[in-house]
Amino acid sequence: MKEELEKIREECQTFLALAKTGPEISDIRVRVLGRKGILTQLLKQLGTLPEDERKEIGQRANKIKEDLEARVEECLRRIQEQERAEALEREKIDVTLPGRRMILGRKHPLTQTLDEIIHIFSRLGFEVVEGPEVELDYYNFEALNIPKGHPAREMQATFFISEDVVLRTHTSPVQVRTMEKKRPPIRVICPGAVYRCDSDPTHSPMFHQVEGLLVDRGITFSDLKGVLSVFVHQMFGRGTQLRFRPSFFPFTEPSAEIDIECFICGGKGCGVCSNTGWLEILGSGMVDPAVYRFVGYDPEEVTGFAFGMGIERIAMLKYGINDIRLFFTNDLRFLKQF
Ligand code: DAH
Repeated sequence: MKEELEKIREECQTFLALAKTGPEISDIRVRVLGRKGILTQLLKQLGTLPEDERKEIGQRANKIKEDLEARVEECLRRIQEQERAEALEREKIDVTLPGRRMILGRKHPLTQTLDEIIHIFSRLGFEVVEGPEVELDYYNFEALNIPKGHPAREMQATFFISEDVVLRTHTSPVQVRTMEKKRPPIRVICPGAVYRCDSDPTHSPMFHQVEGLLVDRGITFSDLKGVLSVFVHQMFGRGTQLRFRPSFFPFTEPSAEIDIECFICGGKGCGVCSNTGWLEILGSGMVDPAVYRFVGYDPEEVTGFAFGMGIERIAMLKYGINDIRLFFTNDLRFLKQF
């Protein structure tokens, strides 16, 4: 039995010396010192020894057991320490490294411009409504007093989906949709994308407009002038000169286009304003009685005005951008400037 004890001690020490991980050591502990371990099993046989040997071997066996337990503990502690040291090394943070720069996103210049337009008109009591981009010919043309075959259709190079369905060429159809749904008083602006078969530095096949409509009893051209003057002064600055120039739109009568003084030459005339001294910014007019008839309003009872502007055009004038395509090519060097 003595020899067996020695053998167990030696083997156990050798295995412990070879073990490299916690689980390996725990495994050795179970196999030797566990309830069914070889040393435990051997100790159970002590009772079968003659009395004189029992005491001596018993003491020796207990000593070996204690030694091995201590050895196991020590090995476990060593491995834990080693793992901890490795983890610390692995997770070390070099606080002297420069930080990683966070790149902040920002609003697209068109969104900023639209936000500003909405802000100005909402303080004047206008509410935002939207309409579909794939639109019926009826709303895009017919109900705006542009019948089939009317020359005014030529003003807008239309993408047709079918004979009766188009990609809307302007946001004016939302006027008609709004009046169909509501009775006056109406005070809305209608932002959104519009489409025309057109492409050059100042025209894009997809661009954005904001439509405005105000209908109530007793609205006159001076209300139009007042509201749009406030808009121009808030958008382009208090001192901005503006003029109302007679124009034609099938859905307004009378109609006017609004120009602001050219900010490049201060009105003297230059390349940007084609030597006129003025820059056109929007179309407007008193809603034509013909339009009211399409939506069942009585033109003897209500009057109102409408206006429409291109968001890209406003942004180009405000920020001095000379190519509309810059808005849509997603070049960060351009977008970052706003
Ligand atoms: N819809 C016109 C266009 O796209 C702009 C416009 C002009 C809208 C006059 C209006 C208006 O509401 O009264 O060119």
